[in-house]
Amino acid sequence: MTSRDTRKSFFLEDMGCQMNRVDSELVAGRMQGAGYVRVESPHEADVVLYYTCSVREHAEDKVFGRLGRLKRLKEERPGARIGIMGCMAQSQKDRIFKRAPHVDLVVGTSRFEDVAELVEEASEGRRILAVEDGVELSYDRDITARTRKHAAFVTVMRGCNKFCSFCIVPFTQGRERSRTADGVLDEVKRLRDDGVVEITLLGQRIDTYGLDLDDGSTLHKLLVRIHEEVPGLLRIGFVTSHPNHMTTELARTIADYPRINRYLHLPVQSGSDRVLRRMNRGYSRDEYLRAVERLRTHVPDLALATDWIVGFPGETEADFLESVSLLREIDYQGSFVFKYSPRPGTRAEDFPDDVPREEKERRNHVILEMQRHMTGARYRKLEGGVANVLVEGRSKTDDDKWTGRDRWNRIVHFPMGGDPTGTLVDVALTGSTNTYLFGTPVV
Ligand code: SAH
Ligand code: SF4
Ligand code: F3S
Repeated sequence: MTSRDTRKSFFLEDMGCQMNRVDSELVAGRMQGAGYVRVESPHEADVVLYYTCSVREHAEDKVFGRLGRLKRLKEERPGARIGIMGCMAQSQKDRIFKRAPHVDLVVGTSRFEDVAELVEEASEGRRILAVEDGVELSYDRDITARTRKHAAFVTVMRGCNKFCSFCIVPFTQGRERSRTADGVLDEVKRLRDDGVVEITLLGQRIDTYGLDLDDGSTLHKLLVRIHEEVPGLLRIGFVTSHPNHMTTELARTIADYPRINRYLHLPVQSGSDRVLRRMNRGYSRDEYLRAVERLRTHVPDLALATDWIVGFPGETEADFLESVSLLREIDYQGSFVFKYSPRPGTRAEDFPDDVPREEKERRNHVILEMQRHMTGARYRKLEGGVANVLVEGRSKTDDDKWTGRDRWNRIVHFPMGGDPTGTLVDVALTGSTNTYLFGTPVV
């Protein structure tokens, strides 16, 4: 007789940002701790969980799309439990039950740690709505529930106090709460002991790290401590930065500590003062430019990436052209472009969403194309040089090659025998495209 695994199973998909991914790893750990086994398809799972995002309409549509396909599953197996977790649970609350009556649990951003208990309660044939605010959270995840062996994200703070007029994050994640530096160090060391060589610290406005702790903690002090106390790490990165809190100490820290990445994600959103004001970003075009200038004084070769929102309410062609000119002026290494979508409860929801969809599409395309060319031009200048690459694994597009990134977050492909994953390799750069560099190892 063959013995069958009688343990209950769960399926979990994370659909949001990196912070959301870390929280979903915590959820996976909790479920495994409660005796569930993880499976790869919702169709074979007793519990189906989606860890959702609300930042744009498209993100929410994707979740409802997934839920639509689960209607059949629920008809065939009424005992299966379907749960919505994360930001969309927090922002939509019981509206999710109305739109998708086959959902059993809605678990918000401060109750995810109790996921296993909540799933059990739902099993008694009850719908569960757990969306209270203000619950103290731990960061106590099972670090072995990671998907990547050599690289890991570490959440150093939660929430956001900025309330940009377009953004739902302050509503879904609450106010800024920093984790103690000792707590962060402890997790980083445990990750290091588990084989991690690259960490990326996470916060929505990571430059404000520590300001709420009243113990003098700051981002640059935290980076220096990690650099000094965890020598086995090869790379230390952090996202997302906001120009208003860029300190000289932070710039100097990036310049002075060789294992800290020379890459900053510094979203600008728009190049027009009029639009920036209405977005409540808290800086003008000129102030942003001066923040970049200060950074580049200390770190001349700093690579910068940014986010743009196109089609924000009232964005005229003249406003858009200001974004285009700022893109040129800063010469970013990379741009992420988003078409504006109104988010419930935000201030901008009251502004008429008046830029037509095709026009948003066009502006999106213009910035992306320009950025592609600018990235390509930057990469071509690097040909003939050598990149020090931290190898991440096989290239997805070419099985014969390995892929990794340098300290400037540039992707490099190269062929090599053995398995160099998780190590540093010097690659002589022989060519490039608009999205990556390639070459051969220096021997
Ligand atoms: N904390 C980060 C961004 C978090 S959201 C920061 O302050 O920059 C990630 C990106 O999504 C934002 O930078 C913005 O470009 C985009 N975004 C946020 N809300 C949006 C909305 N309502 N419509 C379109 N894009 C949006
Ligand atoms: Fe959203 Fe602005 Fe906070 Fe970033 S800083 S998370 S865009 S409110
Ligand atoms: Fe992240 Fe999306 Fe929430 S960007 S913080 S998962 S709304």
